[in-house]
Amino acid sequence: MKTEKSKITIHMVSSLDGFIAKKDGSVSWMHSKDTYEKGIELTKEYIAKFLKSIDCYIMGSKTYEHAVELGWPYGNVPVFVLTKRNMKSNRKNVQFLSGDLAEIVSNTLKPKYNNIWMVGGSMLTKEFLRLGLADEINISIIPTLLGNGKLFFDFIGREILLHLKDTTSFKDGMVELEYEIKKE
Ligand SMILES: NC(=O)c1ccc[n+]([C@@H]2O[C@H](COP(=O)([O-])OP(=O)(O)OC[C@H]3O[C@@H](n4cnc5c(N)ncnc54)[C@H](OP(=O)(O)O)[C@@H]3O)[C@@H](O)[C@H]2O)c1
Repeated sequence: MKTEKSKITIHMVSSLDGFIAKKDGSVSWMHSKDTYEKGIELTKEYIAKFLKSIDCYIMGSKTYEHAVELGWPYGNVPVFVLTKRNMKSNRKNVQFLSGDLAEIVSNTLKPKYNNIWMVGGSMLTKEFLRLGLADEINISIIPTLLGNGKLFFDFIGREILLHLKDTTSFKDGMVELEYEIKKE
């Protein structure tokens, strides 16, 4: 039985001009080749510690399909995939859900998990923000301008105030911005 308060964090990797995917779906742009001497090293230990803190992932079906195609990055951590299609997976930790998103969050995710990561894509980000379901936004900005592609924030349609919680700069030029979403 969990006792801590649940938190939903929207996390994605973005270009500086706000795109999370190129039109052709290629992802090589996500691996920065820049050098920033004052940044910290993104070591395997750093990543492992960070990933260990995540209790479950939730994502849209397009993001799921892309992850399956590129190489599964979520290990055995519970993964909830939103879809209206009849999708199937051999992985025991993957569950497909549909229905009212607010109810899924409050009835299925929050009673069981503390640190919930919503990892895309932009369609699901829009729904989480419009419904006021997210608590934090964590963006890893790659030092590149893609010029075109899929927007992180695709015309959300409402103004949302944020509080900057933390920033981290890495040796490869990536910058992580952590924001808390101010609730009205
Ligand atoms: N840069 C990054 O960090 C990052 C992270 C994640 C994704 N991406 C990229 O973003 C792209 C995918 O983003 P996207 O916006 O196109 O799609 P998406 O948000 O990943 O998935 C959209 C799909 O999710 C399902 N869905 C959404 N809301 C739902 C609801 N309330 N109930 C039931 N199903 C719901 C629908 O699936 P059905 O059509 O199956 O019903 C919908 O078509 C990919 O190219 C991916 O690689 C990048």
